[in-house]
Amino acid sequence: MIISSYMRTEHRACDELFSTAEKSVIDGNFEQAEEQFLLFANDTLRHFKKEEESLFPTFEELTGSTEGPTRIMKFEHEQVRGLIGKMAEAVENKDSDAYLSLAESMMILLQQHNMKEEQMLYAMCDRTIPQDLKESTLEAMKAIKL
Ligand SMILES: [Fe+2]
Ligand SMILES: [Fe+2]
Repeated sequence: MIISSYMRTEHRACDELFSTAEKSVIDGNFEQAEEQFLLFANDTLRHFKKEEESLFPTFEELTGSTEGPTRIMKFEHEQVRGLIGKMAEAVENKDSDAYLSLAESMMILLQQHNMKEEQMLYAMCDRTIPQDLKESTLEAMKAIKL
């Protein structure tokens, strides 16, 4: 289960950064919130890049399908990217109402997205990708930069 465990750890790390930034917004500490939000955004976007450029193509090639679960996941990534842009604007404007309401939508979206990946997609990857290809995919993902 090397794919699942690596990717799940990344989801958790992003969740942590997300809630730290939210706490700073609630405390009215926007300078800190902006830094923490940027860390969340960068880690999330790098994680998406790992999926879109390495894991998903490997899965698609193996299953012969680009129309299945990976297409839905990529569509959801676009929704998250849109929200990241809006949240960045809200934190920059020190608009805590806007930020917290966007954060609510983001949390629901990410929770559902991550759950689908962990329970279905990553599990399928761990089951179907041969061990050596799993290891090389994992190495390729670790090397991906934003
Ligand atoms: Fe994803
Ligand atoms: Fe993911």
